[in-house]
Amino acid sequence: MEYIFLYPLIGAALLLVLSLRIIFYRLYSHPLSSFPGPKIAAATFLYEFYYDVIRNGMYIWEIERMHEKYGPIVRINPREIHIKDPYYYEDIHASGTRKRNRDPKFAVAYGAPYSLVGTIPHDHHRLRRSFIQNYFSKRSVTNLTPYIWEKVDQLTQRFERAYKESSVLHLQLDFGALTADVITQYCYGWSYGYLNDTKNSTRMDLVDAVSGLMLMFNINRFLPFLVTIFRNAPPGVVRFLQPQMGDLFDVKTRLREQAIYILEKKESEEKNEKSEESNIYDALVGDNVPAEEKTVDRLVDEAALLLCAGTETTARSLATSMFHVINNKEIEHKLREELKTVLEKPISKASWTDLEQLPYLTGVVNEGLRLSHGMTARLSRISPVENMLYKDWVIPAGTPVSQSNYFVHMDPTLFPEPEKFDPERWTRAADKGEHLSRFIVAFTKGSKQCLGMNLAYAEIYMTLAHIVRRFEFTPHETTPENLAVRRSMGVGVPMDCKFDIKAKVVSIVEE
Ligand code: HEM
Repeated sequence: MEYIFLYPLIGAALLLVLSLRIIFYRLYSHPLSSFPGPKIAAATFLYEFYYDVIRNGMYIWEIERMHEKYGPIVRINPREIHIKDPYYYEDIHASGTRKRNRDPKFAVAYGAPYSLVGTIPHDHHRLRRSFIQNYFSKRSVTNLTPYIWEKVDQLTQRFERAYKESSVLHLQLDFGALTADVITQYCYGWSYGYLNDTKNSTRMDLVDAVSGLMLMFNINRFLPFLVTIFRNAPPGVVRFLQPQMGDLFDVKTRLREQAIYILEKKESEEKNEKSEESNIYDALVGDNVPAEEKTVDRLVDEAALLLCAGTETTARSLATSMFHVINNKEIEHKLREELKTVLEKPISKASWTDLEQLPYLTGVVNEGLRLSHGMTARLSRISPVENMLYKDWVIPAGTPVSQSNYFVHMDPTLFPEPEKFDPERWTRAADKGEHLSRFIVAFTKGSKQCLGMNLAYAEIYMTLAHIVRRFEFTPHETTPENLAVRRSMGVGVPMDCKFDIKAKVVSIVEE
């Protein structure tokens, strides 16, 4: 009878021996064991788990401390190397013949395994990207600019109403209404019409949903089974557990219906006659796409990715630029004076191409991208076949290697006083012949660089220019601390995890 009590003890002892063996291997026999870094980080993932999950997005600061102590290359967990050197970023996010797989431990966090961001092997990703990349070329986006103008006009009407009613704007949501309407119409041929919502930014399901998704990013990385549970749970349950995530699931229901419709349409076309390719779904089931890629799950994941990626990030970058412009009268004045050179009247229109030529506006756009970072998550890449080289270090093929965008954008040797929103640092650099834009990595670089970069630039230039030319704003209960990155939750967020930039329209510019 007394032997029964021995079994748990034997089990615990075995577990202890096994754990010690794993730790011993990681510290002394693992291919990364000679790399610098704290022993505890090399020994166990629990160290990162503690900072990123228990303390909610704080590992980035621990990594910063590791670099201060150990230098530019550090083993930050048992399997990953982090290199804090902006000149090495393009080696991590390489292009051309240098293959880079996604890191499955990060890709899982998006909860869209059949989309581009969920696709791990380099070649499979390249194939999938080829189906839709023409939709986002500079030429395609230029053709879309009349529609973006239309949306900017609607945003203008919304701000006019806000001025008359003296209401408070939540800039992230207002810009999110614009970016969501553009991406849905462009990709799927229907729009949520968020900008038609006359309640002025009181509700913006998609931006809320993506913010909710991002807040789960670190948890998803460590507990990927939660992603599977959330993907398969009834929307009602999800909404109860995580109200913001619930909105995204409602959106996905609609996308699923559309995917089923497109696949059925495709099937009947194969039997009958073909219709013209009309939106991105049609591209995803085009004749060049292998049959195994034409599944409902794949279409839904890609569609949801485009919608999420195309909405929140651009809105965040716009809101960041906008806050800093309206928070500094000198910047606001300089920008408006420059805009008058192409927008003679407050209601004039200028093309994206003309706006891109304006140096001060370009500085404002770049500073917004820099200080909103795109993502602060490490987005590690894996060289599957060749070793990677960094100075004297040989990083074995198959090792995840990363560098958070945050460290590039906040490097004081590239961007002195990095916290400062300083549009003129870009004109100063241009005068000196420095190509500072190489270090804007908000879209990452290389073969997995953001596919929507041209669309994002067009939306940012056109919206900022026309809105700043037409309105004067003042920040409302918002300070630079509300925008500061204090945690890394996929995207960088302030301490309270709420990115909410409030402002009021104080006048409509007449001249
Ligand atoms: C300022 C705006 C934007 C920023 C800062 C941004 C940033 C990023 C980043 C950091 C990634 C890499 C994610 C990863 O590797 O895990 C990415 C990928 C992606 N983004 Fe964006 N994005 C923006 C706007 C857009 C827009 C408007 C679209 C519209 C379609 C879009 C579509 C995508 C897609 C499809 C990918 C996956 C690319 C691939 O894996 O080949 N993004 N974006």
